[in-house]
Amino acid sequence: MPVPRPERSLLPRPTRISWPGGRLTLDRDTAVRALPGAEPAAELLRTLVGPAAGLPLAPAPDGRIVLALDEQLGGLGEEGYGLTVGPQALLLRAAHPTGLFRGVQTVRQLLPPEALSGGAAGAGSWELPCVEITDVPALPWRGALLDVARRFQPVGSLLRYVDLMALHKLNVLHLHLTDDQGWRMPVDAYPRLVSVGSRRARSQLGPTGPEGARFDAEPHEGAYTKAELRRLVRYAAERGITVVPEIELPGHVRAALAAYPELGNDPGRRLEVWTRWGVCDTILGVHDEVFAFCRAVLEEVMDVFPSVYVHIGGEECPTTEWERSPAARERAAAEGLESPAALHGWFMGRVGSFLVEHGRIPVGWTETGTELPLEFTVMAWRDAAHARAAARRGHQVIAVHHRSTYLDYARSADPSEPIAQPGPPVTLRTVHDYEPAPGTWPEAERARVLGTQAQVWTEYARGPEEIEYLAFPRLCALADRAWSGGTGDWPGFTERLRHHTARLDALGVPHRPLDAGPLAAASAP
Ligand code: ACM
Repeated sequence: MPVPRPERSLLPRPTRISWPGGRLTLDRDTAVRALPGAEPAAELLRTLVGPAAGLPLAPAPDGRIVLALDEQLGGLGEEGYGLTVGPQALLLRAAHPTGLFRGVQTVRQLLPPEALSGGAAGAGSWELPCVEITDVPALPWRGALLDVARRFQPVGSLLRYVDLMALHKLNVLHLHLTDDQGWRMPVDAYPRLVSVGSRRARSQLGPTGPEGARFDAEPHEGAYTKAELRRLVRYAAERGITVVPEIELPGHVRAALAAYPELGNDPGRRLEVWTRWGVCDTILGVHDEVFAFCRAVLEEVMDVFPSVYVHIGGEECPTTEWERSPAARERAAAEGLESPAALHGWFMGRVGSFLVEHGRIPVGWTETGTELPLEFTVMAWRDAAHARAAARRGHQVIAVHHRSTYLDYARSADPSEPIAQPGPPVTLRTVHDYEPAPGTWPEAERARVLGTQAQVWTEYARGPEEIEYLAFPRLCALADRAWSGGTGDWPGFTERLRHHTARLDALGVPHRPLDAGPLAAASAP
């Protein structure tokens, strides 16, 4: 295990940092003083550091660890913070509680890795290097998508993922809750979404080969309770992370159609929850009952998820069913649309307006960058040019080009890597090199890029361990770039990552030793 050197290993890299020399000792007598408004961050510090380091970190008005809200740091925005560690005291300041949450994670990283895990909780005291940090993220949206539709993950593993995200100062958990292969969120108005839609009879094994698809023989099922989802939302909020829910419309709905065939474009057709991977051409109809369904589902979604952003999918939606359907063609004509294919933008626009009326911002996957109404914040995933096309048109953009941010592609061409999404590897370096808003774009377009996020789709990653193995350390690379911006500092990142892996090890995150994998592979991005 590399010797931990916090001065070389803070990840993401802080904006401004200086090391005056000297050390601060934390021991059983060290107390925490929260000034008004800083209590939630002090609570987080106690929760994350106290038990792991084996220190009480008791609240006290004369504590030497001081957390304070300070309007003078308003220029650092919602998430910026200032941290001063001196030989006698630690002072963490921010204009907003969220900034304090980010600073708490820096304090964790200043401790030796063993102090993160509880493994050496009997140590009794720990030393932090003295430091002066001013830190501000470059991008306001630094996220991670987890696909719990293809493979249901127990809520405990989501809480752990949130903690790992928080350690890296990521701030959005995008929860992909519904898809052709499963519906994971209960909706009181439509109980069969869970009783029927959360279970599939079997699952495709690996990608489709020359002989077609092969299947396992095991049913797969699972759904969250609303109480679990609310707990996740609260847990994430306590760490400064927003949970953005995604309900896929009007395609990727096969699980919903298995539950409620009458919502389909062909209401008489009976379907199973899909057991294959890929793009399914069964889609929602465009009759009024479908919009009543969308409204009812989203009302319950908004009730559980306070996030301003609500994702309603929109991608990979073949319109062939609408083109063949007399009812859909009639609806397109009645709405004055030029073709049944134009029902897609019309559909997304109707549902998006419903969210806007409720004070939310609709988010959609964009196929070209230009097909969604402007009130949508778009996730541009298919082509690098789409992010720019969307920004030029006036959308807020989250740039998630799949060749740079989809972590379900293998990290290297090493044949011992687990089965992954077919395609060339997405290496650690590819992720770190990704520029969501390249400097060559005009400033007005760059300003519309809110950020980026890493996707873990779970056709092939079945459980939490496999998910974490795919995510780490590539998620560290995404977090580093999204926080620091600029043109990237690959040598500096790899140097910091070598030390940071000791933290991942302390937290039991499965990842390949760097020399055996990601860094070795990085020479051929
Ligand atoms: C996607 O990859 N289906 C957005």
